[in-house]
Amino acid sequence: MIFKKIKIRNKTFSNRVSVSPMCQYSAINGKPNKWHYRHLSNLVESGAGSLTVESTAISKKGRITKKDLCIYNQNQMKSHKKLLKYLKSIRDIPIILQLSHSGRKGSAEIPWIKKNTPLKKPYSWKTYAPSKVKRDYKWPFPKEMTNKVIKKTIKDFKNSARLAFMAGYDGVEIHMAHGYLLHQFFSPLSNKRIDEYGLKDKLKYRIHIEIIKSIKKISKKKILGARVTGTDHLSNGSNLKDCINLVKKLKSNGLDYICVSSGGIIPKTNMKIREGFRVSIASKIKKECKILTRTSGMINDYKFIDKILKQKKIDFVAIGRKFISDKFFLFKDRKKRKNDFPKQYTYCI
Ligand SMILES: Cc1cc2nc3c(=O)[nH]c(=O)nc-3n(C[C@H](O)[C@H](O)[C@H](O)COP(=O)(O)O)c2cc1C
Repeated sequence: MIFKKIKIRNKTFSNRVSVSPMCQYSAINGKPNKWHYRHLSNLVESGAGSLTVESTAISKKGRITKKDLCIYNQNQMKSHKKLLKYLKSIRDIPIILQLSHSGRKGSAEIPWIKKNTPLKKPYSWKTYAPSKVKRDYKWPFPKEMTNKVIKKTIKDFKNSARLAFMAGYDGVEIHMAHGYLLHQFFSPLSNKRIDEYGLKDKLKYRIHIEIIKSIKKISKKKILGARVTGTDHLSNGSNLKDCINLVKKLKSNGLDYICVSSGGIIPKTNMKIREGFRVSIASKIKKECKILTRTSGMINDYKFIDKILKQKKIDFVAIGRKFISDKFFLFKDRKKRKNDFPKQYTYCI
């Protein structure tokens, strides 16, 4: 079942395993550097059916750290274009760019230097969020976004999607999870607004819908996905029902697929990490929303992947760390090797 093709828009994915987006915090002025070429070419070679490139900021304020990949101007677009041309020359698989705004989780230290730590003055910048609510005691208060700033942010998402399509990406994935800006608008723990961008209104999830609608207007051919939050893993946070509500609205505005993630709205939640811990929640969302569904989180075993695909719990999976620690794990079984496996390595692994 892993090697059963899947089609999204006009793109065929040769198998059901996708490389999960993984931020490298290694960009220079928002542009990919040599490390990205090395890291991403390895992942393209892995045999995965598609690749989602790391969370990429849609504006300077929207960066998590100073070393985030960005795509908000022509110069950055051109460097992404060069990278894509190189990656596609290695293996022509669908490559999607994840677009994000960090909101109150921005202005942070590079996590592989110091985890979950805001930058100190004079290196920090003022962050924005739906409401003036801190991420955690050690994080600063963000500035509440005005309607004007919200409208500008929606335009920034649209602009970045347009640049991503110009650079040659096959689609974009809007990051609505892991505690970043669009998750902050989704969760009652961080969104206390009482206007139309709050959670009381019937029109709730308005910013998410407006972003999807505006990107859909630029292209009907490119793939449009979203990484969503199945649950906050907190009793007073967002839950499965909220996610189903959001996904139904996004689907009716043209969303092609979802990747179900969870947690991250604050540093510590009740999330219990074990093999495939998000599969059951993703499966419930898929059943209710009837949308192509991917999930991630400790899905590392070939047999396990095959089983959840056969059971139709999900349509495809996203795998991160396993591709780094064991690049060719998909091909351990020689019989499974098809055109995706480098011929030169046939007798080596
Ligand atoms: C180094 C690293 C960077 C990550 N960066 C991102 C990111 O840019 N965007 C995102 O949505 N998730 C990100 N994640 C989460 C992964 O995409 C993935 O969902 C998570 O690692 C769980 O899957 P795994 O158990 O297969 O690694 C990152 C994870 C790691 C380990």
